[in-house]
Amino acid sequence: MTDLQWWQREIIYQVYPRSFQDSDGDGIGDLAGITRRLDYIRDLGAGVVWISPIFPSPMKDFGYDITDYRGIEPMFGDLDDFDALIEAAHARGLKVLLDFVPSHTSDQHPWFVESRSSRDNPKRDWYIWCDPMEDGPPTNWISEFGPTTWNWDEATGQYYLHIFLDSQPSLNWRNPQVQDEMLETMRLWYARGVDGFRVDAITHIAPDVDKGDHPPDPDWQEGMNPSGRLSKVHSKNQPFGYETVRMMRRVTEETPGNLLLGETDGTLDNVMSYYGDDLDGFHLPFNFRLLDIEWTVPNIRETVEAYEAALPEGAWPTWVIGNHDCIRIASRVGARRARLAMTLMLCLRGTPTIYQGDELGIPSAKIPPDKVQDPWEKQVPGQGLGRDPSRTPMPWDDSEGAGFTDGDPWLPIEVPPDGPVSAQDAGSMLAYVRRLIALRQSSDALLQGAYRTLGAEEDLYVFAREAEGERLVIALNFADTPRPAPDGDTVLSSHDATGPLVPGEARILRT
Ligand code: GLC
Repeated sequence: MTDLQWWQREIIYQVYPRSFQDSDGDGIGDLAGITRRLDYIRDLGAGVVWISPIFPSPMKDFGYDITDYRGIEPMFGDLDDFDALIEAAHARGLKVLLDFVPSHTSDQHPWFVESRSSRDNPKRDWYIWCDPMEDGPPTNWISEFGPTTWNWDEATGQYYLHIFLDSQPSLNWRNPQVQDEMLETMRLWYARGVDGFRVDAITHIAPDVDKGDHPPDPDWQEGMNPSGRLSKVHSKNQPFGYETVRMMRRVTEETPGNLLLGETDGTLDNVMSYYGDDLDGFHLPFNFRLLDIEWTVPNIRETVEAYEAALPEGAWPTWVIGNHDCIRIASRVGARRARLAMTLMLCLRGTPTIYQGDELGIPSAKIPPDKVQDPWEKQVPGQGLGRDPSRTPMPWDDSEGAGFTDGDPWLPIEVPPDGPVSAQDAGSMLAYVRRLIALRQSSDALLQGAYRTLGAEEDLYVFAREAEGERLVIALNFADTPRPAPDGDTVLSSHDATGPLVPGEARILRT
């Protein structure tokens, strides 16, 4: 067996800092809160903590709109709190990833304030400014969150580009000063002890406005996300975008062992392209395939096999079933199948990322209209695009504020069927996920064995993981009725079952 890198062996745990643990009673999580809960993450068995953005921000997009890449948002703490977090994490053997948001800043970032101040400001070219076309925007592009990507600046008579909110102007990475500034920022955080970055919205980093209008997307239909009406062939996945990834990778390699992880949405080919021609792109381009499909056994089988087949030689796989941008997995597959979904992700080949709370089986919450926070929901209300439902605070115990806060939580707290952390006893989802992770971390077959489909009929998905001297069979019963169990000695059952597989059961057997 070959030696694995830490990012190949360990499980990534995503912390959404606003919702993890509040320590000062303002109803919003913070760095000191995360530090206090590191033992929970370690005891779960995860080895890497990815923290969504913690930098100064007006919070129009909850931290994905940054005004200072080198500081800490006061709501979350300060640099001392950050250093304390890193030290406490490393003392527990945990690695820490920060979220790097290179494609856009806040419109309140001093760079943008300067850039929009006049056409000849030295920072003008740090962003993407264009003259109008026949009194309208330069292209027909649609933003990720709603109408056009262009915002008119009356004072200087030009449009600026924003792929997300109009308060998130796109940086111009073709400007070498922008590259230097941003890469130096990565170096500073690395020097402060960070072990890697998750790079946000990388597919959008190098839009090519000179290429003009986007054609209609033939697959788009009325009722779908309006942002998908056009095919973003000139704004996404542009050749220069890959060059920026290589730049970030080179900086990452300056400290051996650090990890570069990318938010790579898109087709299977898109995802694979971000490993880089010579594996000089992301170590791990996020694989959202399981978020994009309807969860039927044939779909899952096809997704897994297609992904396995497409991986370039030497590329390490990675899987995701939830994050702060999508519907909670327990709601997508139903409470009964939440353990099964977690088993699938943790038993496939490659590095899994667990989104905070998915280990508890938290469902997506119903957010009353007067509590809505997400700008996307506000921009296109009632279309089910809002992300608040998956961002509710962690339920730690059954006190008021759920052990998350002594104050008023910024979003309502959603308690899963098995209760808050303190109530999740031996038969709970949390206890099961802990056992599952312990098994994964001690099994060569699960850590680095080959994958093989054994069957995918009648809502029963069975696959094997095979290493030298160890063979495990994973059986997932998606059906609402029992299914025969494969032969073998049961190592773990999500329902402590013996005999036939009960509905929604995941069972791991040694053969
Ligand atoms: C990414 C983030 C999302 C954010 C967007 C803009 O997709 O995950 O939360 O809104 O980028 O930065």
